[in-house]
Amino acid sequence: MAIRVNRPKRPAGNYQSALVTGATGGIGGAFARALPASTRLLLTGRNPEALAELQQALAVDGRDVEALVADLAVAEDRQRLAERADARSIDLFVNNAGTGRLGAVLDQPPEVEAETMTVNVVAVAELTRALLPGMLARAKHDGRRCGLIIVSSGTAFSPLPYLTTYAASKAFGLFYAEGLAEELSAEPVDVLALCPGPTQTRFGSEAGPVSADRIPGASKPAEVARAALAALGRRRTLATGLVGRLAVEPFLPPRRMVTGGLGRAMRTIDWWSRRR
Ligand SMILES: NC(=O)c1ccc[n+]([C@@H]2O[C@H](COP(=O)([O-])OP(=O)(O)OC[C@H]3O[C@@H](n4cnc5c(N)ncnc54)[C@H](OP(=O)(O)O)[C@@H]3O)[C@@H](O)[C@H]2O)c1
Repeated sequence: MAIRVNRPKRPAGNYQSALVTGATGGIGGAFARALPASTRLLLTGRNPEALAELQQALAVDGRDVEALVADLAVAEDRQRLAERADARSIDLFVNNAGTGRLGAVLDQPPEVEAETMTVNVVAVAELTRALLPGMLARAKHDGRRCGLIIVSSGTAFSPLPYLTTYAASKAFGLFYAEGLAEELSAEPVDVLALCPGPTQTRFGSEAGPVSADRIPGASKPAEVARAALAALGRRRTLATGLVGRLAVEPFLPPRRMVTGGLGRAMRTIDWWSRRR
C-alpha cells in the first residue's frame, strides 16, 4: 500500500473560520489574537465577561467574531457548541480548553476528577468527532485544507504523580491527535498535537503553589500560539519550552516512525481481512 504523506497545500494560518475553545484563557486567547484578521472567529469559554472583552477587542473593522458561553463538562453545551461551529463552516478547530488540579488523586473530590476527564478527554474526542466530517467535506468541496490543533501538554509524555489524572488526560489528547493525523494522512486536513511546556497563564493558579506562570522560564502564550500555527501542516507534534525542546523533541521523529508503521500495519491487516 502506498504511503501517503500529509503535505501542506497552503500557508498555515490562512483559514476562513476558526473555533477556539478555552478562548478566555492564556493560550486560547493568544490563538484568537494570533489568527489573521481575515479569519472569522467562534470563541468559547465559561467566563462571559472575559469572552465579551475578547470579542470586543477582536471584532474590529466589521470582523465576524462570535462568542458562545459554554461549559464543556456539560453535554448539552458541547452539543450546542458543535452545532454553532458547524453552522459557521469552521475550517480550523483549536481544541484548547483544559483543566486539572494539583494533588494526590485520593485527595481530589470525585467531581473535580470527573471534570478533568470530561473537559480534557470526552470534550476533545466528542467535538473532534462531531466537527471533522463537516470540515473535511467543505475542504474537499472547496479544494482547500482544514486544520485541527489539540492542545495536549508536555506532561503527556510520562506519568506525573500529583498531577496524575491531568497528565493521563493529556496523554489521551496527544495519542488521539497523533493517531488521527496518521488515519487522516490522505485527507485534506492538518492535525497538530501541541504539547506546551510551562506557559505564563493562570493555569494551575487555583491549584496551589505550582501555578504555571510562576515556573522560571515559562513561555509567553503568544509565542506558544504562534509556534503552533506555524507548525500546523509541517509537523504532527510540537513540544514547546526548554524541557520540551531538550527532552521531548529528539524523540518525536522515531515516535512518528512508529506511529506511521503501526498505521501501515493496521491498513494492511484491514485490506487483508477484506480480501478473505
Ligand atoms: N499553562 C501551561 O503551563 C500549560 C502547559 C501545558 C498545557 N497547557 C494546556 O493549555 C490549555 C490552555 O490552558 P492555559 O494555560 O491557557 O490556562 P488558562 O488560562 O487557565 O485557560 C484554560 C481555559 O480552559 C477553559 N476551561 C476550563 N474548564 C472549562 C470547562 N469546563 N468548560 C469550558 N472551558 C473550560 C477556561 O475557560 P474559563 O476560564 O472561561 O472557565 C480557559 O479559557 C489547556 O488545555 C492546558 O491543559 C497549559
